[in-house]
Amino acid sequence: MTDKKTKANTLWGGRFEGGVSDIMEKINASIDFDKILYRQDIKGSIEHCKMLVTTDIISSEDGIAIQNGLRQIEGEIDAGDFEFSAALEDIHMNIEARLTEIIGSTAGRLHTARSRNDQVATDFKLWVRDACDQADEALKALQFVLINKAEENADVIIPGFTHLQNAQPVTFGHHLMAYFEMFTRDRARFADARKRLNECPLGAAALAGTSFPIDRHQTAKALGFDRPTYNSMDSVSDRDFALEFLSAASISAIHVSRLAEEMVMWSCAQFKFIQMSDSFTTGSSIMPQKRNPDAAELCRGKSGRIIGSLNSLLITMKGLVLTFSKDMQEDKEVTFDAVETYSLIIAAMTGMVEDMKVNADHMKKATEVGFITATDLADWVVRVLGLPFRNAHHITGSLVALAEKKGCDLDGLTLEEMQQVEPKITKEVFNVLSVESSVGSRVSFGGTAPSEVLKQVALAKERIG
Ligand code: ARG
Repeated sequence: MTDKKTKANTLWGGRFEGGVSDIMEKINASIDFDKILYRQDIKGSIEHCKMLVTTDIISSEDGIAIQNGLRQIEGEIDAGDFEFSAALEDIHMNIEARLTEIIGSTAGRLHTARSRNDQVATDFKLWVRDACDQADEALKALQFVLINKAEENADVIIPGFTHLQNAQPVTFGHHLMAYFEMFTRDRARFADARKRLNECPLGAAALAGTSFPIDRHQTAKALGFDRPTYNSMDSVSDRDFALEFLSAASISAIHVSRLAEEMVMWSCAQFKFIQMSDSFTTGSSIMPQKRNPDAAELCRGKSGRIIGSLNSLLITMKGLVLTFSKDMQEDKEVTFDAVETYSLIIAAMTGMVEDMKVNADHMKKATEVGFITATDLADWVVRVLGLPFRNAHHITGSLVALAEKKGCDLDGLTLEEMQQVEPKITKEVFNVLSVESSVGSRVSFGGTAPSEVLKQVALAKERIG
């Protein structure tokens, strides 16, 4: 029924009479996406080869020929001078086939005491390890930008929301530093994932280890791993490292998404808290007045894609018997896509935060509604009049109702009106009703007072590492 190829695969086709069908080639081949692993694959092969020489499993002449051939191949791929073949399935077999072309049958000695199963696990771990390092660098750059913006805006007042209702006034610097904290945790998650992944699967061979006298400690060390993995079966069936990377990236992406959503909201005509730069916005083809926050919207949108990658791999891995199953080849596209998408949204967010112009007047204006200093009033009643907080809450509620009826803010009530609700109130109460005094008073560690924000900014500069 299907169009059969006539020749069996030269690398594994010893027991096969015919070749695979076109459809089989299409479903089986991963070269279109896993060629991205070529540097890791060559590095792993070179260290494996060196180890085979030091353990006398292959001769040093063969070792030199293999290593030179591999370096030549790396040069060819770097230069875009390499012809990838889907018939050779994946990056591992493409490279080995080319090595055979260059140095002849000696190339076949490289695969001694190794299988594609431990090879791909090693390559992929090396790649994900680099991705952790890149994520860390990118997040650090974003954190620097946040710190600077926070410092510039340490005393700019905005409404702080709960339930998207004006809750208490806060400083914009404080708000931005909240994201600094999220990205600090994200970096810790990537660092943690990196630490746990740093065991080398190479030498686990297909699944059971090998009878050759290999030195797994040598290859692990040479490839920058802390140690070899402890169990050969786990080595080739584990993809936790990719899942952990994707989990960390997903959590971080939702932080980016939340900030992006806030920026979309802050930049709309009703808020006008910020203006985003030309570099990260677009105009409308029909409405000339528009400035659309596309980059922010796409940061928000693309976070879904990263979470999708995590879901995809979780579902792929669930229910697989030990050890390797070809399903696991599906680990790569989603991870590669997530890494590219993640690095793009972090870079875009860094640029957007750096460029955003803050409109302090509009921010302040937005605090002048919704009785935003009601908590300060209640706290004053507790502090000065010595009433329990619950009573103070009740009194303040009555004052809010009174102000609402009168159509003014809390400081629009007269002292007499206040005293009708609670006779012991004095004119000193008016000192706590301004948003400036409200934020200025919140000097508890991690609080929103400008002085505390500046302290946190200074601490952040030390913590950032
Ligand atoms: N290309 C495969 C992957 O991406 C690795 C090969 C292991 N395959 C095998 N048939 N044992 O996971």
